[in-house]
Amino acid sequence: MKKIVIQGLGYVGLAMMTFCAGAQKKNKYLYNVVGIEKNSKKGLKIIKEINSNQTPKIVDDKKFINFYSRLKKKNRIKASINTDEYLNADIVFVCSNCDYNFSKSKVDIKNYIKNIKQISKKIKNNCLIIIQSTLPPGTTEKILEPLIKKNLSKRGIKNFYLCHSFERITPGRDYYSSMKNVERIIGGRNKKSLIITKKIFRDIFKLELNKVIEFSSPSESETCKIIENSYRALNIAFIEEWRKFCSKNNLDLEKILSCIRQRKTHSNIMRSGIGVGGYCLTKDPLFARSSSKQILRKKFNFTLSSEAVKINKKMTFDVMSEIKSKFSKKIINKKVLLIGVSYREDTNDTRHSPAENVFNFLKKIKCKLSFYDPIVNYWKYNNNQSIEKKDLKKFDVYIHLVKHKCFENLNIQYKKKSLILDLNHVLDEKKKSKLSNNKNYEYYCLGSKQL
Ligand SMILES: NC(=O)c1ccc[n+]([C@@H]2O[C@H](COP(=O)([O-])OP(=O)(O)OC[C@H]3O[C@@H](n4cnc5c(N)ncnc54)[C@H](O)[C@@H]3O)[C@@H](O)[C@H]2O)c1
Repeated sequence: MKKIVIQGLGYVGLAMMTFCAGAQKKNKYLYNVVGIEKNSKKGLKIIKEINSNQTPKIVDDKKFINFYSRLKKKNRIKASINTDEYLNADIVFVCSNCDYNFSKSKVDIKNYIKNIKQISKKIKNNCLIIIQSTLPPGTTEKILEPLIKKNLSKRGIKNFYLCHSFERITPGRDYYSSMKNVERIIGGRNKKSLIITKKIFRDIFKLELNKVIEFSSPSESETCKIIENSYRALNIAFIEEWRKFCSKNNLDLEKILSCIRQRKTHSNIMRSGIGVGGYCLTKDPLFARSSSKQILRKKFNFTLSSEAVKINKKMTFDVMSEIKSKFSKKIINKKVLLIGVSYREDTNDTRHSPAENVFNFLKKIKCKLSFYDPIVNYWKYNNNQSIEKKDLKKFDVYIHLVKHKCFENLNIQYKKKSLILDLNHVLDEKKKSKLSNNKNYEYYCLGSKQL
């Protein structure tokens, strides 16, 4: 049986390890699988969790949990910090993180290179490396491939296979299906690398032929991911510009946008929102400029992508500043409840969540803060301020931030005379009109006209 090693067991690696461990043909498992984590506090915690009988805290998708638990019972899920596991690997999936250093305005490529060094110092001849991390375009070809070559030739090893294949997994309720049912995009170092990677993806995910898209270079797969996420970040920033304009001039942005959506070509125009969170959209567009500056050394500035990240980063502060000036007396010093704190709906992932900035902003204006989010089982930010459903009644201000599915049937008995803010289009039309027609409350929805 071939051996697969996964480097990095975060959101991407955990799922990849599980799918590889579960891959079967004619009722027989196809691969021996081991996940490797870093010998760090975080890495050791992850290993301990995986090797215990708990299900990993980062997962809140029942389908995935069932799949994972079945494999766990059969002893198919193994995790370790021992890098010797790379020695006899036939395939290595690289799912470790490549971070952006915001204070130095550059990609932290040095740390990522260390991850690849660890692998290339151990693997055997003919090993296939599939890089799934999001990287500045050009990184695999210009930096990683020469590095792997050098380290292998030092040990007299001549051949290896290499592809970049970016990941599209979404943490949350669709964790399993966003991994299983999507196209796989691969950019290979050469034809043979593409052929074997394609076969492995088809084995692991039972993909139809047309669901594997090939590029003849890893740089194209890397670029594909960066364009995809920059496009989304830009769209968000574009609407944010107009949100500010409409808010200043008391124009009904949401009504304007719904008119625009009637044109077929514009039907997917975005809504306004409270901010951009998560691990990817907050950094990936910046990888474009980094690619030019640090990797390919060409003079492309990517002004739009970089500006989009700036606008998006300021968005929560700008929205909250407006809220403060609009409702100062009703909010400063008051008891405030945040409803939903993850970075997007139906996930427990709170990385770079806009709620964090909302929380900080309100703390500075002396609000007494609590939050309610039944999906988020831990928010390192401030867990002792989490409240139960039964305690929803007693706040001066309610701020809806995340549209979790489980909130659809949540009928809060808001305290009389309270201020209700929907800052992320959480409430449906029925609830909205009920609130705006009820004189017991003051209600405001982001992007709409203030009467
Ligand atoms: N989270 C997502 O939804 C998502 C989606 C698409 C792509 N990506 C990309 O995939 C990559 C991984 O993302 P993630 O969300 O899983 O990140 P993560 O931070 O949750 O996980 C990465 C893991 O790699 C581990 N690691 C780092 N160096 C290591 C080493 N040398 N050996 C073993 N383990 C090591 C870290 O300890 C960490 O647990 C990133 O490049 C990210 O941009 C993420």
